[in-house]
Amino acid sequence: MEQYAIKGGSPLVGEVEIGGAKNAALPILAASVMTDETVYIDNIPDVRDTNVLLNAMENVGVMVKRTDRHKITINASNINSLVVEDDNIKKIRASYYLLGALLGKYKHAEVALPGGCDIGCRAIDQHIKGFRALGAEVCIEYGLIKASAGKLSGSHIYMDVVSVGATINIMMAATMAEGMTIIENAAKEPHVVDVANFLNSMGANIKGAGTDVIRIKGVSRLHSTEYTIIPDQIEAGTFMFAAAITKGDVMVKNVIPKHLESITAKLLEIGCEVEEADDCVRVVSSKPLVHTHVKTLPYPGFPTDMQPQITVALALSKGTSIVTESIFENRFKYVDELTRMGANIKVEGNTAIIDGVAKYTGASISAPDLRAGAALVLAALSAEGYTTVDDIRYIERGYEDFHLKLQSLGAQIELIETERDFQKFKLKTG
Ligand code: EPZ
Repeated sequence: MEQYAIKGGSPLVGEVEIGGAKNAALPILAASVMTDETVYIDNIPDVRDTNVLLNAMENVGVMVKRTDRHKITINASNINSLVVEDDNIKKIRASYYLLGALLGKYKHAEVALPGGCDIGCRAIDQHIKGFRALGAEVCIEYGLIKASAGKLSGSHIYMDVVSVGATINIMMAATMAEGMTIIENAAKEPHVVDVANFLNSMGANIKGAGTDVIRIKGVSRLHSTEYTIIPDQIEAGTFMFAAAITKGDVMVKNVIPKHLESITAKLLEIGCEVEEADDCVRVVSSKPLVHTHVKTLPYPGFPTDMQPQITVALALSKGTSIVTESIFENRFKYVDELTRMGANIKVEGNTAIIDGVAKYTGASISAPDLRAGAALVLAALSAEGYTTVDDIRYIERGYEDFHLKLQSLGAQIELIETERDFQKFKLKTG
């Protein structure tokens, strides 16, 4: 089983290039089946979740051609099944985007119930409510969500919770419904806007993405497009916090600084310097970090996908900090692992009360999910001594070449498989 071996203590210094946004790429890949014409997509991250989705699409007859590592050509004119249920697709959350896409185009879809990181109950009632409002019949049978409609008709849909997935899914289905759909209390995340821009580039008529009211005028067909996915806000934020946590100086390149405002604001509050340019941000951490409070919120609030990374930083910051997780109820599972590295954190319900410590020490730990796994790696990079991180398959779901990018910033991190590899790593870095 692959692990990361890490020797902590080196500040990360240098430049890192951010890839395309995983959470935009997933719905955009799914939406590319909504036309029979060929679609060209650039800046797709080469991570496990996008590859699982692409495999599932190939299994139902979609032609997928990788023209280079991040460029893909897709043609869905020969889809041979509207039932998507291979073993791997059950493991990713984004499988549900094929529901909205196939339902929109073919008025029928059956997709395995979504999996994804175990960070809370992750309901899908708002997706189902939206599809039903458009006129579909939806049921869950034999592990599949089945949605079917004679025709889809535009509707006025009020979302009871702000949901990225439901907003995007309803937007996709409504793109090919008859008439006007209005989604109120829509999610405003940059990836929601990116999916709307992608669909519009294929001939959809979507207005208001990025605000909490999205208006979609249905069209009968979509056409070919060439599209480049936006940079990954969370990968960028993770490297920004890597600089903060390791007392480093990192230029994070190929980003949209506007998408990083809430992350930048917190880094400034805890004592880092942040410089912004057109498409990069530099984070310098030269002073002792100080405490703050943070509550995760839908965009433009502080992202839940950055909660573990900021907690790792605050647990090294002077004073008492409070982190409130308001999106997912089970997103503090990594705190036990961080405690084994010396953190002083008490979790009560959805709140973590953190008393900053002077340092972490290396330990043998496991990644409980994608973002927490990445955050624990950052803790290990700042820790005294050696750490091994298990279950890195979670991290590989969403970070391309994570350890290689960290190495390029001077981190002492390697992929290992055996105890012998670990001993060799220790000899090399000792
Ligand atoms: C997306 O998940 C992301 N995943 C998550 O990223 C991210 O944490 C999350 O949005 C919030 O930003 C993908 O894009 C594939 P939601 P999603 O629907 O769509 C509740 C990562 O690390 N809810 O916005 O599943 C839900 O329980 C992953 O990259 C309902 O009640 O999140 C949660 O409390 C992890 N009913 C809240 O809404 C529903 O029908 C927000 O969930 C849908 C959601």
